[in-house]
Amino acid sequence: MINVAILGFGTVGSGVAEVLEGHRELITQRTGRQFRVKYILDVRDFPDSPFGDRVIHDFQTIEQDPEVDVVVETIGGAGVAKEYTQRALRAGKSVVTSNKELVACCGHELLQLAKEKKVSYLFEASVGGGIPIISPLYQCLSANEIFEVCGILNGTTNYILTRMIGAGLSFEAALKEAQENGYAERDPSADVEGHDACRKICILAAVAFGRHIYPEQVPTEGITGVSLADVDYADSVGKKIKLLGRALRNGDGTVTAYVAPHLVDQSDPMAGVVDVFNAIKIRGDAVGDVMFYGRGAGKLPTASAVVSDVIDAAKHMNTKKYLDWQEGGEDVCASADSLVSPWYVRAEGSAEALRRALPGVSLLARHGAADSELAFLTGPMSRTELEEKLAGLSFRCVLRVLD
Ligand code: NDP
Ligand code: HSE
Repeated sequence: MINVAILGFGTVGSGVAEVLEGHRELITQRTGRQFRVKYILDVRDFPDSPFGDRVIHDFQTIEQDPEVDVVVETIGGAGVAKEYTQRALRAGKSVVTSNKELVACCGHELLQLAKEKKVSYLFEASVGGGIPIISPLYQCLSANEIFEVCGILNGTTNYILTRMIGAGLSFEAALKEAQENGYAERDPSADVEGHDACRKICILAAVAFGRHIYPEQVPTEGITGVSLADVDYADSVGKKIKLLGRALRNGDGTVTAYVAPHLVDQSDPMAGVVDVFNAIKIRGDAVGDVMFYGRGAGKLPTASAVVSDVIDAAKHMNTKKYLDWQEGGEDVCASADSLVSPWYVRAEGSAEALRRALPGVSLLARHGAADSELAFLTGPMSRTELEEKLAGLSFRCVLRVLD
């Protein structure tokens, strides 16, 4: 019998209990082992839940119970979640989590502790919700030199953009729907300001390139600066706006990582990724491009990934399997400002000055635009070059075009 303790009985934690118990027979058939949710730790009681009798409020009970093999941390954040994770690992229990904030800030440290204690620390659900991505990247693509990881990594913002564009909902109404569906973070500014996608690209980059990358090292821009005017202009040139996290390996071994909204051509599979779906493209030297697609948030998709890790942890009780990467540092990241790409610009200023700066530039049109509004696409250049060339304009929105 594998005894599981779940910390945090919210959207994901309750999904984990449902999947583990609901698929009890199937999991036993597949693994030859029985799994049981022995404890659920939360600050509240859940008298109406079928799991209500297992709810406890004191972590010590879990920590001191030698029968508990796997602890599932679905509280979130880097506070008490970190403390409980460390205590569980020190007590010789494997820990499985969906908490990307904790993995992005402290993954290296926690992986080292898990290794020291000869237990597992697994986080498949921390990126891409239900999409299998950490194991495929770490394991199935391990024969490759990885050049780039790029993806739609946040379900809430993709859902908001889809609902605003497709159904004409306001930003606030679309966010409210995402919250009601259980997609958003406790503080949804983490979604809309790009911090959640930032944490995820940090984790992917660490797995892909082998060094810890800290969220503070990754320039991050969310979707709050994108307006319906930009959506219209993008549409007029056959492109969609998508919030992307990217991490590219440079020739000198450094990594350029950033999060920002991009214009993506309609012919790119990323452009067709809508609602809560995520997609992650990985470019390896042997495999070429591979893409992973699926539901990026929500109770059961995320629980699917968490439970697969619980099973994996149970399978590796005796024969160890360690996921690992090296400590980060100032030498890991290169600035995104020198990364060359075409740009979309919406600005105020003189069309004549623009034509002098960018000879041959074509202005984009949209219904209802003010006379002083200039919107256009540039050729490939760095952000630094763009700002130098167009110093005479007042930028309203500047987005990279994915090439
Ligand atoms: P929820 O807020 O729904 O669940 C967290 C639960 O933990 C709540 O019941 C909360 O209680 C409880 N809790 C808070 N503090 C404590 C504490 N000190 N001790 C015990 N329990 C506590 O969050 P989610 O389930 O949505 O997310 C959990 C984690 O998974 C987060 O890291 C999130 O980023 C991540 N994640 C979420 C996904 C999603 O689709 N929702 C998808 C992938 C990852 P109370 O509400 O009373 O504070
Ligand atoms: N808030 C996150 C999202 C949850 O919307 O993608 C999944 O990590």
